[in-house]
Amino acid sequence: MKKIGFIGCGEIAHIHAACILRHGGTVAGGFDLAESSAGKLTAAYGGKIYLSAEELCADPDVDAVYICTRHDSHIAYIAMAAGHGKAVFCEKPIGLRLADAEQAADIVASSGIRFAMGFNHRYSPGMQRLKRFIDQAGSKVDALNAQFVTAPFMQGWAGGAEQGGGVFVCLGSHIFDLVHYLIPGEIQEVRGVSSRIRLGPEYEDDAFAAILMTEAGQMLTLNAHEFGNASYSTDPGHRINTITVFKGHEAASAGTGHFESFSAGGSTMERFPADHLSLWGYSELNRRFLLTLQGKAVEIPGVDAGLFAAQLIERCKEDL
Ligand SMILES: NC(=O)c1ccc[n+]([C@@H]2O[C@H](COP(=O)([O-])OP(=O)(O)OC[C@H]3O[C@@H](n4cnc5c(N)ncnc54)[C@H](O)[C@@H]3O)[C@@H](O)[C@H]2O)c1
Repeated sequence: MKKIGFIGCGEIAHIHAACILRHGGTVAGGFDLAESSAGKLTAAYGGKIYLSAEELCADPDVDAVYICTRHDSHIAYIAMAAGHGKAVFCEKPIGLRLADAEQAADIVASSGIRFAMGFNHRYSPGMQRLKRFIDQAGSKVDALNAQFVTAPFMQGWAGGAEQGGGVFVCLGSHIFDLVHYLIPGEIQEVRGVSSRIRLGPEYEDDAFAAILMTEAGQMLTLNAHEFGNASYSTDPGHRINTITVFKGHEAASAGTGHFESFSAGGSTMERFPADHLSLWGYSELNRRFLLTLQGKAVEIPGVDAGLFAAQLIERCKEDL
């Protein structure tokens, strides 16, 4: 039974802890700058409160470290955990800046630790179904339209330059990974636009759009913003990500929990009822990470995926 230690015990740590217990792992405990947050996590999921991140990383009882803090501290904790030879699961983005991502890739390569990124949206049932549609032989996707829309959350640490990085970093990391997972390959050309439509100048941005041309001649159009609300983005709408692809004479559109295909004969809709942890891909991502800790070879977003997303964010920003 693998034991997980959490650095950062806020909202997302609770989600991962629930998934770990579901798949037979246990929670060794947590460290948080706010001790009360570590207390809430361990009260709910077990384990002990660590008084420092160093103490947690050094504990021989900890098999893997989940880094669930704000973005400014991800790279320091990756280095600390790797220094103790621990496997790492790092929440997105891999770091606040491209230089952090490059450093993380070097650390993972030189230490040889197992490493996974928190790109859960790959594993929602709707996106898994869309991936199967895309991978069916016969014709290639010519165009993809993707949107990633949340309820507002930028007016806190996420929207600032120092700890969050704004929509481009917070949501861009997810959508760039998801689109690259669906349509792998080199990105030849990048165009980016970002904007502060509702927020003041103390925040980075609240909306962006990007157009990517792949080497294979596909046009990928992405946009992300925080102008949704709970009914639209999460429950019951589940439109947080919505992706449509155009492939030969067919088209298909998917969200977290549905898949719709369109052909000359009409359209068909498939729905995938599931609980929140499965619908958003958290459950499957954690299941896979626990398998990697047992030495099983499973596909999982690694350090390259974190680096790829960071590189695309940087390329878009250069185009602004
Ligand atoms: N994959 C997803 O769907 C998803 C969803 C939400 C958040 N996230 C990511 O998870 C991470 C955390 O987000 P959250 O929503 O849980 O935030 P949160 O604010 O709810 O929790 C963050 C916790 O980290 C603690 N913290 C901050 N800096 C720290 C430091 N240097 N050392 C130790 N503890 C520290 C805070 O006290 C807080 O308890 C971010 O990287 C975020 O982008 C991912």
